[in-house]
Amino acid sequence: MTSSTEVNATAAGSGRNATAAFAAKERSAGPVDHARVSAIATDALHALHDVVRRHQVTYAEYDALKAWLISVGETGEWPLFLDVFVEHIVEEVANADRKGAVGTIEGPYYIPGAPEFASEATVPMREGEAGTPLLFQGTVTDLDGAPVDGALVELWHADDAGYYSQFAPGIPEWNLRAAIRTGADGHYAFRTIQPAPYQIPTDGSTGALISAAGWHPWRPAHLHLKVSAPGKQPVTSQLYFDGGEYVEDDVAQAVKPELILRPAPAASGEGNEVTYDFPLDPA
Ligand code: DHB
Ligand code: FE
Repeated sequence: MTSSTEVNATAAGSGRNATAAFAAKERSAGPVDHARVSAIATDALHALHDVVRRHQVTYAEYDALKAWLISVGETGEWPLFLDVFVEHIVEEVANADRKGAVGTIEGPYYIPGAPEFASEATVPMREGEAGTPLLFQGTVTDLDGAPVDGALVELWHADDAGYYSQFAPGIPEWNLRAAIRTGADGHYAFRTIQPAPYQIPTDGSTGALISAAGWHPWRPAHLHLKVSAPGKQPVTSQLYFDGGEYVEDDVAQAVKPELILRPAPAASGEGNEVTYDFPLDPA
Protein backbone atom coordinates (compact mmCIF):
# COMPACT_ATOMS: atom_id res chain seq x y z
CA MET A 1 0.00 0.00 0.00
CA THR A 2 1.19 3.50 -0.75
CA SER A 3 1.56 5.58 2.42
CA SER A 4 0.09 9.06 2.37
CA THR A 5 3.49 10.62 3.11
CA GLU A 6 4.83 9.10 -0.10
CA VAL A 7 2.14 10.82 -2.09
CA ASN A 8 3.42 14.10 -0.65
CA ALA A 9 6.86 13.72 -2.25
CA THR A 10 7.81 17.13 -3.68
CA ALA A 11 10.34 18.39 -6.19
CA ALA A 12 11.96 20.45 -3.43
CA GLY A 13 12.14 17.39 -1.14
CA SER A 14 13.54 15.04 -3.79
CA GLY A 15 15.79 17.84 -5.08
CA ARG A 16 17.19 18.64 -1.64
CA ASN A 17 17.97 14.97 -1.01
CA ALA A 18 19.44 14.45 -4.49
CA THR A 19 21.67 17.51 -4.03
CA ALA A 20 22.82 16.20 -0.62
CA ALA A 21 23.55 12.76 -2.13
CA PHE A 22 25.56 14.40 -4.91
CA ALA A 23 27.52 16.55 -2.45
CA ALA A 24 28.43 13.38 -0.48
CA LYS A 25 29.74 11.65 -3.61
CA GLU A 26 33.51 11.22 -4.12
CA ARG A 27 34.59 13.14 -7.17
CA SER A 28 38.02 13.19 -8.85
CA ALA A 29 39.25 16.78 -9.23
CA GLY A 30 42.40 16.88 -11.35
CA PRO A 31 44.44 20.00 -12.12
CA VAL A 32 42.57 22.61 -14.20
CA ASP A 33 43.25 22.22 -17.93
CA HIS A 34 42.73 25.84 -18.99
CA ALA A 35 42.71 25.10 -22.72
CA ARG A 36 40.02 22.43 -22.28
CA VAL A 37 37.87 24.60 -19.99
CA SER A 38 38.15 27.43 -22.51
CA ALA A 39 37.25 25.21 -25.47
CA ILE A 40 34.22 23.65 -23.75
CA ALA A 41 32.96 26.89 -22.18
CA THR A 42 33.39 28.79 -25.45
CA ASP A 43 31.46 26.18 -27.44
CA ALA A 44 28.71 25.98 -24.80
CA LEU A 45 28.30 29.77 -24.79
CA HIS A 46 28.36 29.92 -28.59
CA ALA A 47 25.61 27.25 -28.71
CA LEU A 48 23.51 29.44 -26.41
CA HIS A 49 24.25 32.60 -28.43
CA ASP A 50 23.14 30.75 -31.55
CA VAL A 51 19.84 29.78 -29.88
CA VAL A 52 19.19 33.42 -28.91
CA ARG A 53 19.76 34.53 -32.52
CA ARG A 54 17.83 31.71 -34.17
CA HIS A 55 14.78 32.16 -31.95
CA GLN A 56 15.06 35.95 -31.56
CA VAL A 57 14.89 35.51 -27.76
CA THR A 58 13.39 38.58 -26.07
CA TYR A 59 14.36 40.34 -22.81
CA ALA A 60 11.21 38.91 -21.19
CA GLU A 61 12.33 35.40 -22.15
CA TYR A 62 15.90 36.11 -20.98
CA ASP A 63 14.52 37.20 -17.58
CA ALA A 64 12.33 34.06 -17.46
CA LEU A 65 15.48 31.98 -18.03
CA LYS A 66 17.31 33.77 -15.19
CA ALA A 67 14.37 33.26 -12.82
CA TRP A 68 14.14 29.59 -13.82
CA LEU A 69 17.87 28.93 -13.32
CA ILE A 70 17.74 30.61 -9.91
CA SER A 71 14.77 28.47 -8.83
CA VAL A 72 16.32 25.20 -10.05
CA GLY A 73 19.28 25.95 -7.78
CA GLU A 74 17.19 27.11 -4.82
CA THR A 75 15.11 23.91 -4.82
CA GLY A 76 18.16 21.68 -5.33
CA GLU A 77 16.78 20.34 -8.60
CA TRP A 78 20.00 20.46 -10.64
CA PRO A 79 20.76 16.72 -10.18
CA LEU A 80 17.22 15.85 -11.33
CA PHE A 81 17.28 18.18 -14.31
CA LEU A 82 20.79 17.28 -15.52
CA ASP A 83 20.35 13.52 -15.12
CA VAL A 84 17.11 13.62 -17.11
CA PHE A 85 18.20 15.88 -19.95
CA VAL A 86 22.00 15.67 -20.22
CA GLU A 87 23.42 12.54 -18.59
CA HIS A 88 22.48 10.15 -21.42
CA ILE A 89 24.93 11.85 -23.77
CA VAL A 90 27.72 11.93 -21.16
CA GLU A 91 27.15 8.18 -20.70
CA GLU A 92 27.19 7.60 -24.47
CA VAL A 93 30.58 9.33 -24.75
CA ALA A 94 32.04 7.67 -21.64
CA ASN A 95 31.08 4.12 -22.62
CA ALA A 96 31.52 4.25 -26.40
CA ASP A 97 34.32 1.64 -26.39
CA ARG A 98 32.80 -0.97 -24.09
CA LYS A 99 32.45 -4.51 -25.40
CA GLY A 100 30.61 -6.08 -22.46
CA ALA A 101 27.44 -5.18 -20.59
CA VAL A 102 25.72 -2.07 -21.91
CA GLY A 103 25.37 0.87 -19.53
CA THR A 104 22.99 3.78 -19.24
CA ILE A 105 22.45 6.76 -16.92
CA GLU A 106 22.86 6.51 -13.14
CA GLY A 107 20.24 9.14 -12.32
CA PRO A 108 20.15 11.09 -9.04
CA TYR A 109 18.97 8.35 -6.64
CA TYR A 110 21.97 6.04 -6.09
CA ILE A 111 23.20 5.66 -2.50
CA PRO A 112 26.33 3.61 -1.80
CA GLY A 113 26.42 1.19 1.11
CA ALA A 114 23.13 -0.71 0.75
CA PRO A 115 22.76 -3.89 2.84
CA GLU A 116 25.04 -6.56 1.36
CA PHE A 117 24.24 -10.25 0.86
CA ALA A 118 26.15 -13.28 -0.49
CA SER A 119 24.90 -14.69 -3.83
CA GLU A 120 21.21 -14.14 -3.15
CA ALA A 121 18.99 -11.67 -1.36
CA THR A 122 15.45 -10.80 -0.53
CA VAL A 123 15.67 -7.06 -1.04
CA PRO A 124 14.69 -5.06 2.07
CA MET A 125 11.02 -4.15 1.69
CA ARG A 126 8.00 -3.28 3.78
CA GLU A 127 5.56 -5.84 5.06
CA GLY A 128 3.15 -6.47 2.18
CA GLU A 129 5.20 -4.25 -0.21
CA ALA A 130 2.93 -3.57 -3.22
CA GLY A 131 3.94 -4.80 -6.65
CA THR A 132 4.36 -8.02 -8.63
CA PRO A 133 7.10 -10.20 -7.08
CA LEU A 134 10.17 -10.47 -9.31
CA LEU A 135 13.06 -12.93 -9.15
CA PHE A 136 15.88 -11.09 -10.91
CA GLN A 137 18.99 -13.20 -11.39
CA GLY A 138 22.01 -13.80 -13.56
CA THR A 139 25.76 -14.18 -13.71
CA VAL A 140 28.64 -11.72 -13.69
CA THR A 141 31.28 -12.89 -16.18
CA ASP A 142 34.36 -11.69 -18.02
CA LEU A 143 34.19 -11.05 -21.77
CA ASP A 144 34.83 -14.78 -22.43
CA GLY A 145 31.87 -15.82 -20.29
CA ALA A 146 33.92 -17.07 -17.31
CA PRO A 147 32.17 -16.33 -13.97
CA VAL A 148 33.58 -13.50 -11.84
CA ASP A 149 34.09 -14.27 -8.15
CA GLY A 150 33.68 -11.39 -5.68
CA ALA A 151 31.73 -9.05 -7.98
CA LEU A 152 29.40 -6.57 -6.29
CA VAL A 153 25.95 -6.23 -7.87
CA GLU A 154 24.10 -3.20 -6.45
CA LEU A 155 20.36 -2.88 -7.13
CA TRP A 156 18.08 0.05 -6.36
CA HIS A 157 14.67 0.91 -7.72
CA ALA A 158 11.40 2.74 -7.15
CA ASP A 159 8.42 1.16 -5.40
CA ASP A 160 5.01 0.36 -6.89
CA ALA A 161 4.08 4.05 -6.65
CA GLY A 162 7.28 5.22 -8.42
CA TYR A 163 9.08 6.52 -5.29
CA TYR A 164 12.65 5.91 -4.10
CA SER A 165 13.66 5.38 -0.47
CA GLN A 166 15.79 8.22 0.99
CA PHE A 167 14.32 10.67 -1.57
CA ALA A 168 10.58 10.52 -0.94
CA PRO A 169 9.31 10.77 2.63
CA GLY A 170 7.86 7.93 4.69
CA ILE A 171 9.83 5.01 3.19
CA PRO A 172 12.27 2.93 5.31
CA GLU A 173 15.92 3.89 4.68
CA TRP A 174 17.10 0.94 2.56
CA ASN A 175 13.74 -0.03 1.08
CA LEU A 176 14.23 -1.67 -2.34
CA ARG A 177 18.02 -1.22 -2.16
CA ALA A 178 20.45 -4.14 -1.81
CA ALA A 179 23.86 -5.39 -2.91
CA ILE A 180 24.99 -8.95 -3.66
CA ARG A 181 28.59 -10.19 -3.55
CA THR A 182 28.99 -13.08 -6.00
CA GLY A 183 30.75 -16.34 -5.17
CA ALA A 184 32.95 -18.43 -7.48
CA ASP A 185 29.98 -19.14 -9.81
CA GLY A 186 29.45 -15.39 -10.40
CA HIS A 187 25.73 -15.86 -9.76
CA TYR A 188 23.38 -13.34 -8.18
CA ALA A 189 19.64 -13.58 -7.41
CA PHE A 190 17.45 -10.79 -6.01
CA ARG A 191 13.88 -11.35 -4.84
CA THR A 192 12.15 -7.99 -5.19
CA ILE A 193 9.03 -6.43 -6.70
CA GLN A 194 8.57 -4.82 -10.11
CA PRO A 195 8.77 -1.03 -9.85
CA ALA A 196 6.24 1.36 -11.38
CA PRO A 197 7.05 4.06 -13.96
CA TYR A 198 8.72 7.14 -12.43
CA GLN A 199 7.33 10.64 -12.81
CA ILE A 200 9.66 13.65 -12.69
CA PRO A 201 8.20 15.76 -9.85
CA THR A 202 5.73 18.06 -11.56
CA ASP A 203 5.55 20.73 -8.82
CA GLY A 204 9.09 22.10 -9.25
CA SER A 205 11.19 23.93 -11.84
CA THR A 206 11.95 20.87 -13.95
CA GLY A 207 8.23 20.06 -13.96
CA ALA A 208 7.45 23.67 -14.90
CA LEU A 209 9.72 23.47 -17.94
CA ILE A 210 8.27 20.09 -18.99
CA SER A 211 4.72 21.37 -18.71
CA ALA A 212 5.48 24.73 -20.40
CA ALA A 213 7.04 22.81 -23.30
CA GLY A 214 4.10 20.37 -23.47
CA TRP A 215 6.31 17.31 -22.89
CA HIS A 216 5.43 14.39 -20.60
CA PRO A 217 7.28 13.85 -17.29
CA TRP A 218 7.58 10.03 -17.29
CA ARG A 219 10.33 7.44 -17.27
CA PRO A 220 9.47 3.78 -17.89
CA ALA A 221 9.62 1.38 -14.90
CA HIS A 222 13.26 0.43 -14.38
CA LEU A 223 15.74 -1.41 -12.18
CA HIS A 224 19.01 0.44 -11.47
CA LEU A 225 22.23 -1.61 -11.34
CA LYS A 226 25.88 -1.03 -10.62
CA VAL A 227 28.19 -4.00 -11.15
CA SER A 228 31.84 -3.85 -10.14
CA ALA A 229 34.66 -6.35 -9.60
CA PRO A 230 38.43 -6.24 -9.05
CA GLY A 231 40.29 -5.86 -12.37
CA LYS A 232 37.09 -5.02 -14.29
CA GLN A 233 35.48 -1.82 -15.53
CA PRO A 234 32.40 -1.14 -13.40
CA VAL A 235 29.13 -0.71 -15.27
CA THR A 236 26.15 1.43 -14.26
CA SER A 237 22.94 0.40 -15.99
CA GLN A 238 19.17 0.25 -15.92
CA LEU A 239 16.84 -2.50 -17.08
CA TYR A 240 13.33 -1.95 -18.44
CA PHE A 241 10.29 -4.17 -18.96
CA ASP A 242 9.25 -5.24 -22.46
CA GLY A 243 6.02 -3.54 -23.51
CA GLY A 244 6.00 -1.28 -20.44
CA GLU A 245 4.57 2.22 -20.55
CA TYR A 246 7.08 4.88 -21.74
CA VAL A 247 9.71 2.29 -22.82
CA GLU A 248 9.44 3.80 -26.32
CA ASP A 249 9.24 7.36 -25.03
CA ASP A 250 11.48 7.87 -21.96
CA VAL A 251 11.79 11.53 -20.94
CA ALA A 252 15.44 10.81 -20.01
CA GLN A 253 16.20 9.00 -23.33
CA ALA A 254 18.07 6.30 -21.43
CA VAL A 255 16.46 3.16 -22.93
CA LYS A 256 18.56 0.91 -25.21
CA PRO A 257 17.45 -2.32 -26.91
CA GLU A 258 19.99 -4.38 -24.89
CA LEU A 259 18.38 -3.20 -21.64
CA ILE A 260 14.88 -4.64 -22.12
CA LEU A 261 13.89 -7.52 -19.83
CA ARG A 262 11.30 -10.10 -20.84
CA PRO A 263 10.19 -11.66 -17.54
CA ALA A 264 8.22 -14.91 -17.55
CA PRO A 265 5.91 -16.32 -14.86
CA ALA A 266 8.13 -17.60 -12.03
CA ALA A 267 8.66 -21.36 -11.58
CA SER A 268 7.65 -20.82 -7.93
CA GLY A 269 4.22 -19.67 -9.14
CA GLU A 270 4.74 -16.32 -7.41
CA GLY A 271 5.15 -13.35 -9.73
CA ASN A 272 7.76 -13.26 -12.50
CA GLU A 273 11.37 -14.22 -13.02
CA VAL A 274 14.04 -13.07 -15.43
CA THR A 275 17.72 -13.75 -16.06
CA TYR A 276 20.24 -11.08 -17.10
CA ASP A 277 24.01 -11.54 -17.27
CA PHE A 278 26.72 -8.87 -16.94
CA PRO A 279 29.89 -9.53 -18.98
CA LEU A 280 32.44 -7.01 -17.66
CA ASP A 281 35.19 -5.36 -19.69
CA PRO A 282 38.71 -5.62 -18.26
CA ALA A 283 39.86 -2.49 -16.40
C1 DHB B 1 15.70 10.90 -12.60
C2 DHB B 1 15.09 9.94 -11.83
C3 DHB B 1 15.36 8.61 -12.04
O1 DHB B 1 14.78 7.63 -11.32
C4 DHB B 1 16.25 8.23 -13.02
O2 DHB B 1 16.47 6.92 -13.16
C5 DHB B 1 16.88 9.19 -13.80
C6 DHB B 1 16.59 10.53 -13.58
C7 DHB B 1 15.42 12.34 -12.32
O3 DHB B 1 14.41 12.64 -11.69
O4 DHB B 1 16.26 13.15 -12.71
FE1 FE C 1 15.48 5.82 -11.61
